[in-house]
Amino acid sequence: MWTMVTTSLLVSALASVLSAAEVFRFSSYYGNHMVLQKAPAKAAVWGFGQTDATVVVSLSGSNKVSEYSIIVINGIWRTTLEAVEAGGPYKLTASQSITNSSVTLTDVLFGDIWLCSGQSNMAFTVGQVINATEELALAPNFTDVRIFQAALEHSDEELIDLARVEVPWSLPTAELLGGRKFSHFSAVCWLFGRYLYKTLKYPIGLVHSSWGGTPVEAWSSPRALYKCGLMNSNFLVQTSFPESVSARWNSSVLWNAMIHPLLNMTITGAIWYQGEANANYNRDKYNCSFPVMIDDWRMTFHEGSDGQTPLDFPFGFVQLSTYLKNNPRDGFREIRWHQTAGYGYAPNERMKNTFMAVAVDLPDDGSPWGSIHPEDKQDVAYRLVLGARAVAYGEKNVSFQGPFPSRAVLKQDFVCIVFDQGINVIASGVFFEICCSEDKACESDDKWAPVVIVKHDFDYVHVSTPKCPAADITAVRYLWTDWPCNFKACPIYSSDGLLPAPPFILTVTKQ
Ligand SMILES: *[C@@H]1O[C@H](CO)[C@@H](O)[C@H](O)[C@H]1NC(C)=O
Ligand SMILES: *[C@@H]1O[C@H](CO)[C@@H](O)[C@H](O)[C@H]1NC(C)=O
Ligand SMILES: *[C@@H]1O[C@H](CO)[C@@H](O)[C@H](O)[C@H]1NC(C)=O
Ligand SMILES: *[C@@H]1O[C@H](CO)[C@@H](O)[C@H](O)[C@H]1NC(C)=O
Ligand SMILES: *[C@@H]1O[C@H](CO)[C@@H](O)[C@H](O)[C@H]1NC(C)=O
Ligand SMILES: *[C@@H]1O[C@H](CO)[C@@H](O)[C@H](O)[C@H]1NC(C)=O
Ligand SMILES: *[C@@H]1O[C@H](CO)[C@@H](O)[C@H](O)[C@H]1NC(C)=O
Repeated sequence: MWTMVTTSLLVSALASVLSAAEVFRFSSYYGNHMVLQKAPAKAAVWGFGQTDATVVVSLSGSNKVSEYSIIVINGIWRTTLEAVEAGGPYKLTASQSITNSSVTLTDVLFGDIWLCSGQSNMAFTVGQVINATEELALAPNFTDVRIFQAALEHSDEELIDLARVEVPWSLPTAELLGGRKFSHFSAVCWLFGRYLYKTLKYPIGLVHSSWGGTPVEAWSSPRALYKCGLMNSNFLVQTSFPESVSARWNSSVLWNAMIHPLLNMTITGAIWYQGEANANYNRDKYNCSFPVMIDDWRMTFHEGSDGQTPLDFPFGFVQLSTYLKNNPRDGFREIRWHQTAGYGYAPNERMKNTFMAVAVDLPDDGSPWGSIHPEDKQDVAYRLVLGARAVAYGEKNVSFQGPFPSRAVLKQDFVCIVFDQGINVIASGVFFEICCSEDKACESDDKWAPVVIVKHDFDYVHVSTPKCPAADITAVRYLWTDWPCNFKACPIYSSDGLLPAPPFILTVTKQ
């Protein structure tokens, strides 16, 4: 409670007068058991103190102590530590001699920090996933994967620190990971961290900050929204979990309260599972709002950490799964495409250093949490980790993208679609459509006719052509429905069978 009070005081002109009463402390997301970003980046550390006082921060490990002396400005002290290799434990102490105040954080590790954000499919807890009992039993063994979670707060102004913390830095326990539904701790975030730990074998810090039912506008700064012509919007949020909220919110309220305060830590990257709430809200601006939000987070995390978080930090996201089996108009097919800025794959020209977990083939109409919340988060996290290994960690031999077409060519009575890698075709049926249009306009669904796979081989498929003049055959699209297949039963996978071809739309060329 008092955090909110001091936050507003700090920004006022009275700050220096009142700060003598300021409690000396670290900001909310520094605590015992935390993970600080490891080398080559330097960890940013900050807190609150008495203006003009000197604060000494010291980091002590097994055989060495390093000290940093800082002056408190406007009630805030901050520094960046020297670069520290992965490992620990360390003690991190901050002391303000003028008030004889000293705070020591113990069991501090250095490793990689990943931020996890989005809406309910990110908030979905380990206690809710398939095989939850096994996952929860296994979790305490991963003592080097640490968790932290921001509490649900919204604000019409940018906050300096989190107003509240839901889960302070902790070692994983079944209780913390299997909390109330959609409360703590995120299954996608946790599984991402623990799978990543298996390959990195050094500490991972997971910072979770998400809220069910929220559109991208809530998580974007006014500056970002302005770039997409979305300023001053005001929307209705309706969430049932973990709290029942039905209110009108201004844009940027979660950016203000749940992201802005976190800018001043050094991170490795972010993962994101969101988009459902935009399926019917500013949907056709999502191809702008989502990439622009990524750009804006990158710029501000870079600035907020004094340049320590890379300006192009890796950003992974989950391409939406499925929602309504018999309703072709839930908007998911458009959002999936917009999530890639209209490229169909990631990373791409517009969205550099990103990676995408395709989830269109992981529907779950039996989910006890509703079909919009598939219970299988293990496959989602596994696919994200492949992307992180390849894109964020530069592992050369990790394949992380399913097959994507390089061209579609009209032959006599079929269209040949050639992929960028070997394919495994596991199903037949109607998954492709061809656009027949005299004027080459394909926006309307009635221009599209279903076609079938007539042949396939190493890296290509042939699909039939509909009854229409060859000159009118304009484009081909794949998985362009809201719920295209059953669980892992979309037709085209990578040759090892692991990664699905994502939905695509492609111009058909003539020979
Ligand atoms: C700090 O501690 C010293 C020595 O114990 C004492 O003399 C001084 O009054 C203390 N100052 C404050 C502000 O508590
Ligand atoms: C759940 O557990 C079963 C039995 O151990 C296993 O076959 C299956 O792959 C698990 N599913 C997931 C998504 O981990
Ligand atoms: C987890 O740790 C416990 C205690 O160290 C050990 O007995 C158990 O085999 C471990 N489980 C797994 C799956 O590694
Ligand atoms: C939205 O912002 C305006 C000022 O910009 C403020 O007056 C209003 O109270 C805010 N609405 C909500 C629901 O917070
Ligand atoms: C976004 O998608 C809409 C609708 O498909 C399209 O009109 C617009 O040109 C796209 N914008 C960008 C920036 O790609
Ligand atoms: C955090 O970063 C923001 C954005 O760069 C900056 O405006 C703010 O002063 C920083 N706050 C602290 C406590 O370092
Ligand atoms: C990938 O390369 C790394 C070394 O760069 C090696 O340790 C690993 O075994 C390789 N993995 C595969 C699947 O080939």
